[in-house]
Amino acid sequence: MLIKPIKRIRRSITVPGDKSISHRAIMLSSIAEGESKIHNFLMGDDCLNTIECFRKMQVPIEIAGNEIRVKGIGLNGLKKPDTILDVGNSGTTIRLMCGILAGQNFDCKITGDDSIQNRPMDRIIIPLRQMGSIIDSVKKEGYAPLKIQGSKLTAINYNMPVASAQVKSAILLASIYADGTTSILEIQKSRDHTERMLNYMGANIRQDGLSIFSNPPDRLYAREIYVPGDISSAAFFLVLGAIVRDAEILIENVGLNSTRTGIIDVLKLMGANIKISNKRILNGEPVGDIYITDSDLKGIEIGGNIIPRLIDEIPIIAVVAAFAEGVTIIRNAEELKVKESNRIKAIVTELKKIGAHIEETDDGMIVYGKKSLRGGTVESYNDHRIAMALSIAGLLSEEGVVIDNPYCVDISFPNFFDILDRMMKNGR
Ligand code: S3P
Repeated sequence: MLIKPIKRIRRSITVPGDKSISHRAIMLSSIAEGESKIHNFLMGDDCLNTIECFRKMQVPIEIAGNEIRVKGIGLNGLKKPDTILDVGNSGTTIRLMCGILAGQNFDCKITGDDSIQNRPMDRIIIPLRQMGSIIDSVKKEGYAPLKIQGSKLTAINYNMPVASAQVKSAILLASIYADGTTSILEIQKSRDHTERMLNYMGANIRQDGLSIFSNPPDRLYAREIYVPGDISSAAFFLVLGAIVRDAEILIENVGLNSTRTGIIDVLKLMGANIKISNKRILNGEPVGDIYITDSDLKGIEIGGNIIPRLIDEIPIIAVVAAFAEGVTIIRNAEELKVKESNRIKAIVTELKKIGAHIEETDDGMIVYGKKSLRGGTVESYNDHRIAMALSIAGLLSEEGVVIDNPYCVDISFPNFFDILDRMMKNGR
């Protein structure tokens, strides 16, 4: 895929539905009672895999355009799947589903692609076993494929060793099936979409600072869910708008949950002009429009509690840092090493190839901003966010960028290259 440099950009766009919220909408609607309608669902590969997994457990799910109808079969209505559940590349699907599967009255196996089979699952196995789940690795201890024997669960008090919404959500979903009050203490606040959607559907979740308390509900109720645009997808165009000369970009209908808006804070700290308008709440989630124009950016230090609020945006932050004046240091981001690829190594290696002055560190990176990138040939590591960050680098580069294996963008942003194509043709 050849990405050519652009000189101007002035346009209004929408980005596809939020990936995290789309997954949760399918999972919770499946175990609710009645028909849920999900609007603006993300038709990306990861979320389609979540649909397939629930269909294998006999949940009727209908796809009509980008609206989904789920006929929920109740908390105890899922049926034992005939074959192994396959999540493809989706960490959210496997980790959250293990929480649900732990409380069923059947056993099953769940796995995913090579990347999934090399991502740590002990982080969910440990708390789920404490709740009484019988969950084992089929091949290598602590990794997928996993075998889960549904069992009777009991509530636990769990202090999370990592900041991870996937781990927190696995425990919360198991807590629906557990006797007693489950409490979780986070080390840093991670995205809280599960908490919000559970409550929207009638569950009893209470958040108090870094603590979360969950009492099992009698049932969940089907609801209408409007999935906001994914701020993690919007991030790529925010960076474009912050850098291209005389740029003006409006991104409408974006999720603005404060557990996800670290990218806006970082861009503002770097000096970006960002305005938020049309703020509202949709099914318990804050949503609004983001307007950005270009400005002179400067390097900053990023670390500590903001990291979980921008964890998926670090590859594109590395790109914006390359165009800033001065040094940007990213710390405390070790979790990036266990994403779809080792994202620290991937982005540092590839940005170097196209002319960035950037160094890998144990827990992040140091970027020496030069306000320009030359261009060249790079690879995506089959990781959607790496492919998209490098594509934006291509639009901003002097000579363009050729990306090897670009179609992994379908995981979270199927029309990404269509938008880029139009931008390359006429800046709109
Ligand atoms: C997600 C949580 C994050 C994030 C991932 C989606 C979720 O992962 O990186 O893309 O939907 O809960 P961790 O929980 O592993 O940090």
